[in-house]
Amino acid sequence: MKIGVLASGSGSNLQTLIDQLHYDESCEIEISVVISDRKKAYALTRAKKAGIPSYVVKARDFPDRHAFDERISELLDTHAVELIVLAGFMKLLQPAFVQKYRNRILNIHPALLPAFPGAHPVADTLAYGAKVSGVTVHFVDEGMDTGPIIAQKSVPVFDNDDEDSLHARLQVEEHKLYLTVIKWYAENRISFAGRKVIVKGSE
Ligand code: GAR
Repeated sequence: MKIGVLASGSGSNLQTLIDQLHYDESCEIEISVVISDRKKAYALTRAKKAGIPSYVVKARDFPDRHAFDERISELLDTHAVELIVLAGFMKLLQPAFVQKYRNRILNIHPALLPAFPGAHPVADTLAYGAKVSGVTVHFVDEGMDTGPIIAQKSVPVFDNDDEDSLHARLQVEEHKLYLTVIKWYAENRISFAGRKVIVKGSE
């Protein structure tokens, strides 16, 4: 199965996928392309080091968001991507893109959705005073972090946490959970009962 990873930042989730999928020759999941909307994203360096084709697609180089999404779509299709993996990609994909790839786009979010959606979930969790946070992997729909949830893992919030310490604890779980879910997808174990996601053999 070919996956395409979209990332805007440091790419630590991408790195786990590179380490666990790309460098495992027996693995049937291939990272065929990495795309970033930020030229300086370290995720691009990680892709280059691994010899994975990578591209910068900046929103401001396009007349509108539709054209931006179209370029991303063109690159994903050129690389025969079957599953799109958002790994810290901070742009909201437009409805036409989501409809084209319905149930073929995954996102990871550093909070227990539907709590704390949006761009600052870790800061929002701390500001709210929540005692438990966690990570969520979900399918992407037209909303902001609203798609069907596939898997979640809780993480404690400590009184002395700041954004960095909590995010670091969350990322340890992100790296494990994303890999697990991508493998479930590749093994065809994910199905739907209405909006509820069922994972065969995970009970
Ligand atoms: C991750 O924590 C991911 O969950 C978050 O961005 C970080 C990217 O880290 N995504 C969101 O907040 C999406 N709403 P990484 O670049 O090191 O993988």
